[in-house]
Amino acid sequence: MRFDGKVGVVTGGGSGIGRATAIGFAQRGGSVVIAEFNQEAAAKVVAEITREGGKAAAIRTDVSKPSDLQAAIDFARSRFGRLDFLHNNAFAMPPHWRPSRVGEIRDEAWEHTLNVGLTACFRAMKYAVPVMSEQKSGAIVNTASISGLFADYGVAAYNTIKAGLINLTRAFALEYGPLGIRANCVCPGVIDTPLIGSGGTDPETRKRIESKIPLGRLGRPEDIANVVLFLASDLAAFVTGAAYVADGGQTAHTGIPPIIPSESQAPSHR
Ligand SMILES: NC(=O)c1ccc[n+]([C@@H]2O[C@H](COP(=O)([O-])OP(=O)(O)OC[C@H]3O[C@@H](n4cnc5c(N)ncnc54)[C@H](O)[C@@H]3O)[C@@H](O)[C@H]2O)c1
Repeated sequence: MRFDGKVGVVTGGGSGIGRATAIGFAQRGGSVVIAEFNQEAAAKVVAEITREGGKAAAIRTDVSKPSDLQAAIDFARSRFGRLDFLHNNAFAMPPHWRPSRVGEIRDEAWEHTLNVGLTACFRAMKYAVPVMSEQKSGAIVNTASISGLFADYGVAAYNTIKAGLINLTRAFALEYGPLGIRANCVCPGVIDTPLIGSGGTDPETRKRIESKIPLGRLGRPEDIANVVLFLASDLAAFVTGAAYVADGGQTAHTGIPPIIPSESQAPSHR
């Protein structure tokens, strides 16, 4: 899998899944723009890539601002000449966020979640269209979640944006497939990044989560980046409109408790 001569924009590329994707894309010959809120983190990733001989640049981007997203796409073109890959990935929970039931979600928290996690992805896709249409090629990968396929307790707004993102991606795939632009989602399970700590995930909760994952561990950012890069690559030339699950087997289970006694301890029941 190589990306020589290809140019990508990764939103939220300063940490976690986005960072791993940006590094993986550059290691395979691509030039990457890190469109990131946290300038210090972005600069570190750029330094890490360029130290190893890769090509990368950062632009300060708040994905909730339309002009910042447009500037990131324009920057990729002016700096590296084209746009082949867009990874819509940035997300952060609203300030002072805590899990809460639907009846208790603050309006501002709902709006923040929708803006950063869904509307921003719509806008970035919209701004990528003219460039990718002109090139008659392009691959968009949106970071959705297993939380967009099923629901969780206390995170209804998050469930909503990720479900919306999966269907936005399908609609886009239908409309732009004929123009040579593919769009897919990756649906990670629980991945060991700073994001999962932001909800106050203590060691005990972490253990409980691990006990529900057949592979027995949380995912690593690289586990997801590898799927993103496959979807971005020519190896996935016939894949569009898909939602690829990478969750260590967590959602393979219906939730019915084990009926074989020897498996009653198995880390498989949701
Ligand atoms: N970690 C998980 O368990 C998990 C599971 C499923 C899906 N996801 C999704 O993966 C994506 C990446 O999350 P992660 O776990 O790598 O988190 P992370 O916190 O490690 O990285 C997110 C990055 O996005 C940046 N960011 C946040 N708000 C931004 C904004 N408004 N504009 C620009 N950049 C912004 C942050 O600065 C950070 O660098 C998110 O879309 C998240 O919903 C994560």
